Amino acid sequence: MPEYGTTMLTGLPEHVTIYEVGARDGLQNEKNLVPLEVKAEFVRRLLAAGHTAVEVTSFVRPEWVPQLADAEELLATLGPAPEGIRMPVLVPNRRGLDRALAAGVREVAVFASATEAFARKNLNRSLDESLQVFEPVVTAARAEGLAVRGYVSMCFGDPWEGAVTPAQVARIVTALRDMGAQEISLGDTIGVATPGQVVAVLDAITVPRDELAVHFHDTYGQALSNTLTALQHGVTTVDSSAGGLGGCPYAESATGNLATEDLLWQLNGLGIHTGIDLTSLVATSVWMAQQLGRPSPSRVVNALAIPEI
Ligand code: HMG
Ligand code: MG
Repeated sequence: MPEYGTTMLTGLPEHVTIYEVGARDGLQNEKNLVPLEVKAEFVRRLLAAGHTAVEVTSFVRPEWVPQLADAEELLATLGPAPEGIRMPVLVPNRRGLDRALAAGVREVAVFASATEAFARKNLNRSLDESLQVFEPVVTAARAEGLAVRGYVSMCFGDPWEGAVTPAQVARIVTALRDMGAQEISLGDTIGVATPGQVVAVLDAITVPRDELAVHFHDTYGQALSNTLTALQHGVTTVDSSAGGLGGCPYAESATGNLATEDLLWQLNGLGIHTGIDLTSLVATSVWMAQQLGRPSPSRVVNALAIPEI
């Protein structure tokens, strides 16, 4: 419950699902290879902190993201997702889906772009070609009984094309939804969005708000404001990264995702339930920062990690 003296804000959900991307989005941009056992321990600690949705890795072409080339080994080390826990992986094509199926994965995510430029940079395909690749992947995944998430990147601005219209975003959201993706995540890949844009994009989309997620990178310090705005407009799933790790290797100027601890601090203060323990998560991010050899960019991790004086 919120502290005494807090006025309850209206129009907010009672529960928010935090979709943790630290192990995938957080690590994919790390230059130095993170040992397999560190990745596995990171995921185990995230689950132990109470996370119910942890994106684990990507079955992309290893030459494109060398850091995640150990996807098979990581999943074999972790074993199957516990009952009721989501442990999705990214797949860019049929080859990725086949690898994910062989590894026993129960949820996959395809990742489209709202812009032509980023489709070409990230997937080596035109935007429409990338959708043509995804369509049979989503159909096959659903036929196998898998859950499917669809990402749309560059929803609020693109480093090569500049402004992105809400109509561009809505077209790709609809395309992914029509293929059979059950949850669509709206990505601010380079972290440029401000709250009015969030409302404009949400208003342009016809998919029910409880089937959307928001995925804000924090380059310009706007991720938390944008998240609160999305929650006030009916979104209940938020992507974030423990310790604020992250960035996309194929997007110029993308920094870390919204830090899960910063999000939790706000949600806890608002009395919104997540089921995640902030203290355990901070301890995990402090441990992970030691593994990576540099401090976490999360404000909350740094505030809570300072010994009391
Ligand atoms: P390509 O180079 O065009 O590949 O890459 P291709 O289709 O021409 O195939 C060439 C060879 O690669 C073939 O092997 C394939 O089998 C192999 P060969 O016949 O020559 O021996 N190959 C694969 N091997 C293993 N796994 C695979 C795979 N696919 C092909 N899945 C491709 C096209 C899409 C594969 C490549 O561009 C790619 O892997 N891209 C992934 C980039 C990426 O991971 N980006 C970061 C994630 S997106 C993100 O971070 C944004 C997000 O967080 C949301 C947001 O912030 O907005 C989600
Ligand atoms: Mg991202």
